[in-house]
Amino acid sequence: MCGIVGCVGRPNETLDVLMHGLSKLEYRGYDSAGVALANGTVDIEKREGELENLEAALEGIDLGGPVGIGHTRWSTHGPPSDRNSHPHADCEGQVAVIHNGIIENFQTIKDELVAAGHEFVSDTDTEVVPHLIESALADGASPENAFRAAMERIEGSYAIAAVFAGGDAVYCARADSPLVLGVGDDATYLASDVPAFREFTDRVIYLDDGEVARINAEGWSVTTLAGEPVDKSVHTVEWDAEETGKSGYDHFMLKEIHEQPRALRQCLRGRVDELGGTVELDELDEPPRPTAVQFVACGTSYHAALYGAQLFQDAGIPAQAFLASEYVTSPPPAGEALVVGVTQSGETADTLSALREAKGRGARTLALTNVVGSTVSRECDHVIYIRAGPEIGVAASKTFASQLAALNLFALATANGGDRDALGALRDLPSEVQAVIDDSTAAAVAEEYLDAEGYFFIGRGLNYPVALEGALKLKEITYRHAEGFAAGELKHGPLALVTENTPVIAIATGDDELARKTVGNVKEVEARNAPVIAVTDGQSDIERYADHVLPIPETHPRTAAVLANVQLQLFAYHTAARLGRSIDKPRNLAKSVTVE
Ligand code: F6R
Repeated sequence: MCGIVGCVGRPNETLDVLMHGLSKLEYRGYDSAGVALANGTVDIEKREGELENLEAALEGIDLGGPVGIGHTRWSTHGPPSDRNSHPHADCEGQVAVIHNGIIENFQTIKDELVAAGHEFVSDTDTEVVPHLIESALADGASPENAFRAAMERIEGSYAIAAVFAGGDAVYCARADSPLVLGVGDDATYLASDVPAFREFTDRVIYLDDGEVARINAEGWSVTTLAGEPVDKSVHTVEWDAEETGKSGYDHFMLKEIHEQPRALRQCLRGRVDELGGTVELDELDEPPRPTAVQFVACGTSYHAALYGAQLFQDAGIPAQAFLASEYVTSPPPAGEALVVGVTQSGETADTLSALREAKGRGARTLALTNVVGSTVSRECDHVIYIRAGPEIGVAASKTFASQLAALNLFALATANGGDRDALGALRDLPSEVQAVIDDSTAAAVAEEYLDAEGYFFIGRGLNYPVALEGALKLKEITYRHAEGFAAGELKHGPLALVTENTPVIAIATGDDELARKTVGNVKEVEARNAPVIAVTDGQSDIERYADHVLPIPETHPRTAAVLANVQLQLFAYHTAARLGRSIDKPRNLAKSVTVE
């Protein structure tokens, strides 16, 4: 989704600060980018395409001004173009506005404003905001009250910021879209996400829905829409700016794949009492002991949710994973179930809607998220942090591994504590992930199948969500067709697609009934001449039927799934790298999807 940034208090550096912030937020959308700087006038510069187009446009232009805002766009209304880029202005050029989200009643407002003589130049919903502000200013309102009046009029989801000609402040407000303030020593910042200003300050204030903030060089104030002052706490973020750089890797995604051992250590640190064989989750001051669990999530997080549901089922607690968007469409009876939202960003609109739906019907809710202070963490009754650190690559990698680890902790803490085998396997997981990364031959194997017509991923049990995730990762970053199936389903239809040009990536770990049946399914594809790539710990005889093997160490079935996924991440990454794809910013995608 779009990213917004703002800065007041660094008169000679405002533009640099905004451009730095936008570079950190580009993962949220890269259809266009723009900035507005206010002095006596409001100067706007914006361009379709990635940030570098804006950078080129700004060369040689003196966009001075001590007050500024910037935007990077993921299109919702109107195709990517210069004129649909943000910031948007009113007719007179007195105000510039940036917006992340969707204004649901924009057409009604636009019709009224057009009838009143306002001229619109874009196809966006956002453009109604500067015109609403302009109307209020014309009626004699102060900039702050004009901003409030516009916020009161619009419906939908938004994080909005505005600057005024001659003004010394940025005004911003949020409803259902993330917005955080940064409190520096002599400057104040705002952004959709902390990495935008982390280099300048570690002190942050998370805004809540229905709040309006005013930031200027002296500091900040937060009020309700009606103007009542709100007490806000200033939090300190615990990671440093270094963690949001590429550290010498070609792509953020590769860096984040390599960061998995550290991310997993962070996730497990202080939470596993090995002597006692127990798990302590401090966040759960009163650990919920669910009689049933419903997981809601989207995309990669949904695959983690499918894995989590199996952990609870295996512990005898009825559990199901739902796609969040479908959960809302046809809500299942929650009864006494604990409803768990799995979302690395904590801002995914579909997941938030599903949790609100459940909460509205009286269910207890729990968030499993990476982002401290995110909307989900504030709205749920309980929260477990996965502690993966910032993830910039649009395709989730380390957050998925950390979600699986945190789901293990959650299941062990609430459902089947005392499983020493599982605890031991978790303890060893970071170093085993490191070993898989160090020894992986996925790059060489990927090289052999660059011309494949399609790719199929199969697995059973805990390896089934991993097969789904392997396929999603491959299609996202390579733009190649890929599907994941429960291995047993292949023969019920998809087998018709299997040819000598469709490699089948089969995950078989352990030496149990599941592995044996998966090997049976592999024989079926081998008989159709499909190349087979086996991801295995060597315990079954799948290697006999495989053209290539991506090995993982022998471990517990729960952690085997995490290790197998690392091989699939590397396979997808190297395929995409050889195809020259835009790995960190795949076309049409954004990291945090804050619309339904
Ligand atoms: C895929 C990916 C997406 C997200 C999905 C949910 O690589 O990252 O499928 O998993 O958009 O996002 P979160 O976890 O932030 O709710």
